[in-house]
Amino acid sequence: MTKTFDPVPENCRVPFTWLDGACVPTEQALVPIMTHTLHYGLGAFEGIRAYDGASGPAVFRLREHLERLFRSAALCRIEIPFTLEALTKGCVETLKRNQLAAGYLRPVVFIDDGKRGLGVTNNRIRVAIATWPWGRYLGDEGVQHGIRAQVSSTVRMNARSFLPKGKINGQYVNSILAKRAAQQAGFDEAILLDDDGYVAEATGENLFIVRDGAVVTPPTSQPILEGITRASVIELARELGLPVREDRFTRDTLYIADEVFLTGTAAELTPVREIDGYVIGTGGRGPVTERLQSRFFDAVHGRIAGRVGWLTGYRV
Ligand SMILES: Cc1ncc(COP(=O)(O)O)c(C=O)c1O
Repeated sequence: MTKTFDPVPENCRVPFTWLDGACVPTEQALVPIMTHTLHYGLGAFEGIRAYDGASGPAVFRLREHLERLFRSAALCRIEIPFTLEALTKGCVETLKRNQLAAGYLRPVVFIDDGKRGLGVTNNRIRVAIATWPWGRYLGDEGVQHGIRAQVSSTVRMNARSFLPKGKINGQYVNSILAKRAAQQAGFDEAILLDDDGYVAEATGENLFIVRDGAVVTPPTSQPILEGITRASVIELARELGLPVREDRFTRDTLYIADEVFLTGTAAELTPVREIDGYVIGTGGRGPVTERLQSRFFDAVHGRIAGRVGWLTGYRV
């Protein structure tokens, strides 16, 4: 029984897409079949969310996401032909043109057609920014009551072969293989271990456990993405006076954790209620997860005065 969930509203049509410097009608935002990145996967992308908050619509941590996009491109030895300021404007303009007071943004940097083969270096670098309305990535039910996850037999890519700190298109085959296997086995999400057998992260989310009141997450010395939600949640937890540690832990520690939750732009803060058939804590959203989740949603919706600096406001 393959488990799938689609948070995009039905018949959703987004009229404009930003492509190479300007918003164009989405039906004209097309790429050639021989687009280099389509074949080989070398390119960089981001996932960003906008929320309709206390002072109107705002993008959450836009600068940090775009800075990571530039780092991911640099890891690919790709130079983005736009400034961070131009891409900032592009993101906001795309949301406004599509009259989206909330939604998901997908900037993607890719290598165009031109010369063919692996060794090309001078093909044009292109940038697109797509946006669409997006609900809860792992479902409303998941956000409230928790999801069921599987520890994957697919191991998280290692930093000797790949660049796990980059959000690099082709690298997502690793995550997708793990996710597909988990869904096929009836789970919502997969958790990947690293080469040494330590818990790394989920397919598009960082992972936290709560044990004896402390919030623990794998350190960035492991092959994980340096999640912006992860960093935000660590700050919010410390503000709440919760002890936070970045420590390695193994699969069995997951099973006996009091609480487990995932963080990511798409998944926001989603509790995990069961892993490999082991019930986590009381089998629902734990009290620390609930506190952090509520604080996180307050931050993204502009309800924490000290955190409005995380938001880039705009008008639709
Ligand atoms: C592999 C992976 N880990 C973690 C995350 C969470 O990162 P962020 O919170 O910046 O969205 C993502 C999403 O971008 C991801 O793809």
